[in-house]
Amino acid sequence: MSDVRELLARELTAARDRTLRLTDHDDPELLAQHTPLLSPLVWDLAHIGQQEDLWLLRGGDSACPGLLPPDVEALYDAFTQPRAVRARLPLLPPVEARAFCAEVRGRVLDRLDRAGDEDPFDVAMVVSHEQQHDETMLQALNLRPGPPLLGTGTPPPPGRPGVAGTSVLVPGGEFVLGVDASDEPFSLDNERPAHGVHVPAFRIGRVPVTNAEYAAFVADGGYADRRWWSGRGWAHRVEAGLQRPQFWGPDGTRTRFGVVEHLPPDEPVQHVTFFEAEAYAAWAGGTGVVPAGARLPTEVEWEKAAVWDPATGRRRRFPWGSAEPTPALANLGGTALRPAPVGAYPAGASPSGAEQLMGDVWEWTSSSFRPWPGFRPMLYADYSAPFFGGDFRVLRGGSWAVAPSILRPSFRNWDHPIRRQVFSGLRLAWSVEEADA
Ligand SMILES: [Fe+2]
Repeated sequence: MSDVRELLARELTAARDRTLRLTDHDDPELLAQHTPLLSPLVWDLAHIGQQEDLWLLRGGDSACPGLLPPDVEALYDAFTQPRAVRARLPLLPPVEARAFCAEVRGRVLDRLDRAGDEDPFDVAMVVSHEQQHDETMLQALNLRPGPPLLGTGTPPPPGRPGVAGTSVLVPGGEFVLGVDASDEPFSLDNERPAHGVHVPAFRIGRVPVTNAEYAAFVADGGYADRRWWSGRGWAHRVEAGLQRPQFWGPDGTRTRFGVVEHLPPDEPVQHVTFFEAEAYAAWAGGTGVVPAGARLPTEVEWEKAAVWDPATGRRRRFPWGSAEPTPALANLGGTALRPAPVGAYPAGASPSGAEQLMGDVWEWTSSSFRPWPGFRPMLYADYSAPFFGGDFRVLRGGSWAVAPSILRPSFRNWDHPIRRQVFSGLRLAWSVEEADA
């Protein structure tokens, strides 16, 4: 096998090992649906196999017969089967779902071994798909009531004092937004192509907003004060009865994968909607907790802060340089089951000095989801394009639950502004007068 085929075979195996660990539970656990927002785990499991069958064994041709009968395969179409109804479908039982996934995988590895003509990109896309569903399964497991099923997670490194609430300057000027296949062959369609964009100077939080900072907003009555909320945000806050981030108790505790614990003050806040993130920024800037004018960054600002090196006039591959992510650089991979405290990864800083851009929490940006100029859909043509221009906000940076092998600083996630079962947090930004830059 060529080097790239060997690499992809290893990535496929790593993704499958993770999927099987996350679904190594008794059948009732896999069949349970904890929220209409997420699927029962057994649906994710068979859907992973169904998509792999479609993209890698049939080249994306759904008219070509797959390993499942058509009426069974139709149960795993994410576009025609909304998440809310999936638990009521006649799904494959867990034992059959596992066997189906194993059968597909065996054939895929055989083809890779024979050096067939499949595009390595398509294999990488399938790896990314499986790893992204693994994160979704972690969201479902976090919502599961009852005693912990996954333990407490691997402790992340300690943070360091003095970084929360501080910001760094990103000078104005053009930078290269997005990537090309020549630099990042496994980048997904919405990350391409690379193109020059002028970005005025701005400041951005050195680290994400912490639980302690966010708790001050809650304690100050921020959830009852209409001033800090957008019109839509306030309407949602009232309708949904939001009083604090999801999983926070009223007593300074939080529940994480069934573990009830004191809220760690220095950890990035998680499980806030876009509307809560926006309201926090308005409150923090409006009350003088941070400099006036605090807001969420745009996704373009976020990417520039993450990769642009003014000293060389080039992008870095990762915020810290070209080295692949390691546990010393970023909290990724999902074993921590939590974000690391702020200041835990000084070696992972970007050229601008911003830290923890990769991993820990998905960071809400103010941007809606749109294609970069020159966008061209990939084999999985409905991955991005149907969502452009919809009621979504872009999240950047990846959470602790993302596999390092699929994450790039150009990676774009998106969700409805009212969602918060996602491992979502925020980082502040400020516009800067050019004369001050
Ligand atoms: Fe999917």
